Amino acid sequence: MERQRAGDSIGLTIQLNSDTELRSIGLGDADEMFAAIDRNRERLHQWLPWASSGYSIADTYLFLSNSLEELARHESLTMTIRHRGNLCGAIGLHRIDHKNRSSAIGYWIDEAHEGKGIVTAACRAMVNEGFRNFGLHRIEIRCATWNHRSSAVPRRLEFLEEGILREAEWLHDKWVDLRVFSMLAQDWV
Ligand SMILES: CC(C)(COP(=O)(O)OP(=O)(O)OC[C@H]1O[C@@H](n2cnc3c(N)ncnc32)[C@H](O)[C@@H]1OP(=O)(O)O)[C@@H](O)C(=O)NCCC(=O)NCCS
Repeated sequence: MERQRAGDSIGLTIQLNSDTELRSIGLGDADEMFAAIDRNRERLHQWLPWASSGYSIADTYLFLSNSLEELARHESLTMTIRHRGNLCGAIGLHRIDHKNRSSAIGYWIDEAHEGKGIVTAACRAMVNEGFRNFGLHRIEIRCATWNHRSSAVPRRLEFLEEGILREAEWLHDKWVDLRVFSMLAQDWV
């Protein structure tokens, strides 16, 4: 994996392979990000509380500007996932807690790019980033108990499954149980 710092918002690009890279977000991503969310709207709605039926481009702008402010305060790191230059998903280190040196990873990918190992590779790169460059000690991934594709990502990366948080998330119209996975810096190879 190549890693370079260059020209955009904070200028972080992480090359996953010759076709696919992670790029730190900028406000200029809004149109492309909204288009990807819009074409996956029904699918994302099943799993992600923010992907409501009324989700609009204004929500994408708000998300990007909040994420950039958090980035400036070192409270999160959000990256677009790009395949041959085109935005096909997003991944982030969220809720960075400096006192406890912990964070949580969230992700989604366009249906056309599902099933190719891109998210697992992206997640591996974000865990590397979190442990090596943000000084984290613990990284969590939380998935709805029936979101098997999402749970498969931390399992592939040998996160430890810690248990289930009962009714821990409000998903549009119901409470959802969340499976918690974690990785500690000393266990990450
Ligand atoms: C959850 C989600 C991100 C998982 O995406 P994904 O494409 O299944 O994950 P990956 O990109 O790691 O791909 C894994 C698949 O690629 C295959 N694969 C191919 N090459 C691979 C490689 N080099 N490494 C790992 N997996 C590889 C795996 O076998 C697996 O296939 P399978 O599903 O048939 O078993 C995606 O389903 C999604 O966006 N869902 C909606 C949003 C969501 O639920 N977000 C998470 C909320 S907690």
